[in-house]
Amino acid sequence: MKIILIGFMGSGKSTIGQCLAQFQNMRFYETDALALARSTRATISDIFTHDGEPVFRAYEREVADQLSHLSAGVIATGGGMVTQKVCIDALRQNGGVVIYLQAAFELLHARIRSDHENVRPLFQKTDKARALYDARLDLYHLSADHVLPIHDKKPEEIAREIVQLVMGKGK
Ligand code: S3P
Repeated sequence: MKIILIGFMGSGKSTIGQCLAQFQNMRFYETDALALARSTRATISDIFTHDGEPVFRAYEREVADQLSHLSAGVIATGGGMVTQKVCIDALRQNGGVVIYLQAAFELLHARIRSDHENVRPLFQKTDKARALYDARLDLYHLSADHVLPIHDKKPEEIAREIVQLVMGKGK
């Protein structure tokens, strides 16, 4: 089973993905970390500042292509992966199931504001971030096989819900 988590910044893709991988004894992959590993920069924020967003998006395409060959694992994507259809198509190869972790903007905003470790270059101004959220909503829905509202549920709870959702499709 190959499970791909999509959703806006702050929706918990990495935390939930790690939980899910642990529950199901599967390998965990994080596209942001794999994209960063392709660069000599220290952070994703540095890639945006010094190289520009198109360079980061090109890394994302390479990572999606790399992960297209997988047939099993849990993949947490960066929030902008859905803006490149070619990436979602690649990730979905080999029977990948795409799950959208859906949340209201207000919840995501509160979470991102309190996350000082992972600085999101595209979440520096609230009005711009909201416009990005609104512009991407359709893309998340169009890309998803399942939509899972996260509300304020714990990562473990959501990971169990994902297991229920994809159960019966084999591992
Ligand atoms: C981005 C989301 C980030 C990261 C980059 C761009 C986006 O990932 O890939 O800062 O365009 O939404 P998270 O969703 O893990 O924060």
